[in-house]
Amino acid sequence: MADKKPYFDTLAIHGAQRKKKPDNALNEPIYMTSTFTFDSLDDAEAAFSFASDDYVYTRGNNPTLRLLEQRMALLEQGKDAVAFSSGMAAISSVLLSLLKPGDELIAHRVLYGSTHNVITKLLPAYGIKTRLVDMGDIGNLEQALGKNTKVVYFETPSNPGLEIIDIEAVSALAGAAGAKTVVDNTFATPYFQQPLTLGADVVVHSATKYLSGHGDVVAGIAVASCADYAARLKFDYMCELGGVMSPFNAWLVLRGLKTLGLRMRQHQQNAMEAARWLAAHPQVERVFYPGLESSPGHRLAGRQMSGFGAMVSFDLGPDQAKARAVVEKLALARLAVSLGDCETLVEHPFAMTHRGYGAEEIAAMGLSPGLIRLSVGLEDWRDIIGDLEQALR
Ligand SMILES: Cc1ncc(COP(=O)(O)O)c(C=O)c1O
Repeated sequence: MADKKPYFDTLAIHGAQRKKKPDNALNEPIYMTSTFTFDSLDDAEAAFSFASDDYVYTRGNNPTLRLLEQRMALLEQGKDAVAFSSGMAAISSVLLSLLKPGDELIAHRVLYGSTHNVITKLLPAYGIKTRLVDMGDIGNLEQALGKNTKVVYFETPSNPGLEIIDIEAVSALAGAAGAKTVVDNTFATPYFQQPLTLGADVVVHSATKYLSGHGDVVAGIAVASCADYAARLKFDYMCELGGVMSPFNAWLVLRGLKTLGLRMRQHQQNAMEAARWLAAHPQVERVFYPGLESSPGHRLAGRQMSGFGAMVSFDLGPDQAKARAVVEKLALARLAVSLGDCETLVEHPFAMTHRGYGAEEIAAMGLSPGLIRLSVGLEDWRDIIGDLEQALR
């Protein structure tokens, strides 16, 4: 491990760990402490002025959070990271840190519901102009970029349509216009996609999902390509706005990360089986999964991702009642808004995560009220398909 950079699965287990842990424990302890003590005022002043690395207060810094941040920076190939209390705390803090009144943000037209609300309702109330465009066509972004554009924001694959946005092309265009590119990498995880290596400036995650992977934590993280920016985000925004992650939750995410590669490989295999089966079903009008060769994003996904993930959406047509009946009939797949857990989860975006969008907006995105989103879990894929089969029947 000494001379060669370790592979992903090794980094996910060992990355940034201390050589010797307290009491020779295998695992790092959880530093459940709100404050840290000093032996003298000189020591306290050194810590406050950053002359020493001593910890002061967990809202500013904590060894368990620091380990998670450093490990995530390694996994995303960034320079540093900041842990947050939730994905939304990470997203809103990153946006506030990069924008001021008079600036403009351009985002892809399809976004996770709460992100859509922050971008279209909250930021404009603070004098930030926001614009949604279809970044599936890079020409739309080119046209929309202006001298006041400071941030370009998107998810890829997107939620719930699984569209693929060209990270390299968007980052290059945004960079040339003086804007920062922020990518929500929740669906792909760094195991399948590393946006910072393709030119993005900041990656944000809902660590609630695949990174922790067991549905037992709400957490977020931002990883940056610039260490100075990460320090500013941590001390001027996370610390001051207060969206700090609990050390216990950081430890749960660290535990989840140890099996991230293993889980993502199996998640993907199960998703591919489910997507192929759904695509051949006569009741299913359309399957959205970048792993299918028929998917419009398949080639681009093959270029910028090393795998296709495990989120699969499928459309039962314009009749919402049909989708509602199927969702309620599923038994192994549980009805829930979250994703990325061992359990297969199903949701109806039109009634749940994306209910803020109107029917016309949904149609403009190429989606329909009959859309169902599956987070394909780690159960045996034959049982997952068996459940889909009985529900569709
Ligand atoms: C793609 C995506 N980004 C961000 C979030 C927000 O994360 P959190 O719920 O951890 O605040 C979610 C939550 O579902 C999501 O699906």
